[in-house]
Amino acid sequence: MSPLTDQTAARPQPAGDAAPLAGRVALVTGAGRGIGAAIAERLGRAGAAVVVNDLDGALAEATAAALRERGGEAVAVAGDVTDPEFAERFVACAISAYDRLDVIVNNAGFIWGEAIGRMSDEQWDAMLDVHLSAPFRILRAAAPEIRARVREERARGERVTRKVVNVSSVVGLDGQAGQVNYGAAKAGAIGLTKSLAKEWGRWDVNVNAVALGLIETRLTVAEQVETIALGDREVPATLPVGLAQGMADQIPLGRLGTVAEAAGAVYLLCLPESDYVTGEVLVCGGGFGG
Ligand SMILES: NC(=O)c1ccc[n+]([C@@H]2O[C@H](COP(=O)([O-])OP(=O)(O)OC[C@H]3O[C@@H](n4cnc5c(N)ncnc54)[C@H](O)[C@@H]3O)[C@@H](O)[C@H]2O)c1
Repeated sequence: MSPLTDQTAARPQPAGDAAPLAGRVALVTGAGRGIGAAIAERLGRAGAAVVVNDLDGALAEATAAALRERGGEAVAVAGDVTDPEFAERFVACAISAYDRLDVIVNNAGFIWGEAIGRMSDEQWDAMLDVHLSAPFRILRAAAPEIRARVREERARGERVTRKVVNVSSVVGLDGQAGQVNYGAAKAGAIGLTKSLAKEWGRWDVNVNAVALGLIETRLTVAEQVETIALGDREVPATLPVGLAQGMADQIPLGRLGTVAEAAGAVYLLCLPESDYVTGEVLVCGGGFGG
């Protein structure tokens, strides 16, 4: 351990710095593994109670259990974000578990690419559903809850800044061959972000997006193409094997990002220090993209 680290560890930290999100409740979709799990972990470590969703209920429960084991608060909500009934249930779970709603991170998603000439309607719709329509429905479901709470808080003379972070991609900014569906959906998430920032400013909600570059998860560096359950069948959910690693030399920092680094970008936009930042897209790509 370096002398600097020693000194920092020895210095008492004010409670607010150690747990800047204490008392806050964060909803994170697709948090059973990968970037979503790292976001849940980061927000939980900052003191937030986390409502952890994933399509895979066992993975969602594992993320929530790991947070609880570290002394945090978390509940799992299994479910498919594209299920039209999911959004209301997700918001209701947060309210029934913690009676608050402060942070929403729309992260759940996968990639199902193809050259446009061979892309099916199903492929196109699947990307729009998971990356754009599902966040829209979750935010719509949260709207009456947020409005009502803000009115009550203001009546008590309180001002609370809430946070929405939509996880987008550099593909939504710059495009990528073979991903017209994913690129359109991730660009759509940026349009949603910017318009909602204008709509929800009056309620003190910051609405931002993080455009991730290449982050090491099964999506990018799986040993074999992995699949995801879409209705009653399995479809590919990852980039072709080796493609992402082969692109590392195009990244100025010379490597893929870690899930902790991706979560760090989301975390910045959940902190009180970013309370005057809204309608922005934070590119987290090691210099690649944007
Ligand atoms: N990995 C990257 O390089 C990269 C780059 C840019 C953007 N992103 C975005 O980051 C997000 C997370 O990706 P990741 O790399 O961590 O992938 P991942 O496959 O490791 O994790 C995604 C999680 O989301 C869940 N999920 C997928 N569809 C869902 C649905 N319909 N309902 C609920 N949960 C669902 C999966 O079960 C999985 O646990 C995605 O939105 C992805 O598009 C990733």
